[in-house]
Amino acid sequence: MKPPLVIAPSLLACDFGRLHEEVRRAQESGSDWLHCDVMDGHFVDNISFGPAFVEAVAKVSTIPLDVHLMVERPDHYFPRFTSVASVITVHVEAQHDVAGTLAAIRKAGCRCGISLRPATPFEAVEPFLHRIDLLLVMTVVPGFGGQPFMTEMMAKVEAAAEARARLGLSYRIEVDGGINRETGLLSMRSGADTLVVGTHAFNAPDMGAVIAKLRTALL
Ligand code: DX5
Ligand code: ZN
Repeated sequence: MKPPLVIAPSLLACDFGRLHEEVRRAQESGSDWLHCDVMDGHFVDNISFGPAFVEAVAKVSTIPLDVHLMVERPDHYFPRFTSVASVITVHVEAQHDVAGTLAAIRKAGCRCGISLRPATPFEAVEPFLHRIDLLLVMTVVPGFGGQPFMTEMMAKVEAAAEARARLGLSYRIEVDGGINRETGLLSMRSGADTLVVGTHAFNAPDMGAVIAKLRTALL
């Protein structure tokens, strides 16, 4: 069954110099979760922030933290986020025992997610679908905010929704990268129920209006 819509602004696009105000702005705008993009400079060609930053977010956040680990060794680093994260998502392409990492995240008390790059076929995550709470379909090449949405990734979202219904599972289907009103609507029509919104949310003078429009887009 399709879960209710979740909108998760990505803090990668916020003003880091005003972190606490930005967290409050996102919350007051009606966000459901806050998406935290952790990058190690190896798995992706960028370094963003680590556990200390996410802890600083947690100090003021009253909504769940959705931690997206774009790191080469998620099995080694995920324990540094379990005390503050609600859900921790790892990549299927990273260097680790994927099933083992997912089980360890759950054992630590968090929900677990798996993600795949645009170049990775849906088949790569199929063996793990019964082990996850969330499937994160990247709609840009991970590493940077502000890139254009890759429409062709909707085939993976459709496959994820079809597999969820066929297997009787309940994982969320999250899209990440280039989400705005138009691409968010397309994603929801394809089967996504969780939208990560970076640039489009934080660059807007009225984030509340952006989120309200996304929330009512399908209605
Ligand atoms: C990209 C990150 C995204 C990014 C999305 O590697 O995973 O979460 O912040 O930003 P926008 O919405 O600007 O594409
Ligand atoms: Zn992300």
